[in-house]
Amino acid sequence: MGYSLEQFCQDTREALTANPGHEGRDMARANLEKLLVDPDFLASTLGDDQEPGVETIYEDPDLKFCVLAYLAGADRTSPPHDHGVSWAVYGQAEKHTDMQMYQRVDGGAGAGEAKLELIKEFRLNPGQAGLFDVGEIHAIDHPKGARFVRVTGEDLNHVERLRFDAEAGTAEVIEDQGVPHPDKA
Ligand SMILES: [Fe+2]
Repeated sequence: MGYSLEQFCQDTREALTANPGHEGRDMARANLEKLLVDPDFLASTLGDDQEPGVETIYEDPDLKFCVLAYLAGADRTSPPHDHGVSWAVYGQAEKHTDMQMYQRVDGGAGAGEAKLELIKEFRLNPGQAGLFDVGEIHAIDHPKGARFVRVTGEDLNHVERLRFDAEAGTAEVIEDQGVPHPDKA
């Protein structure tokens, strides 16, 4: 049986409303794993005729969670970062994404000196989704041609986030947001 973007958004809305904490976000992750293997969704949203880049394909008018579709035009390794007050679910549709999770061990919270410790590494393969809850620091690495969906708790363009430089031992506020929104372009 098929599972559409509309069904995913409806199920996720219900899950997050009934379970506002970690449990509801993990249900969103499980819902996304169903969407990632739906052939119609993949063909219409992450198919061969899509341009490389990122597109916001849904923003919930009440709960504010966002669904974004990515088609990687190049290999990319992101520095460790958080999503501020937002959680995020990454779900793989094609190729893979290697994930690293860190904890901050310097006792700080904001920008400035920051020391990270790697605590977990895993790979997302097609059909798999991973949850990074509020404040969890992560880095992602994917090859050109990777296709994935990211669900964020809210529009990250409006969330103050941190990017870490592990070698320099610093954290800075991310200024270059730039996730395009069709209604705000
Ligand atoms: Fe992220």
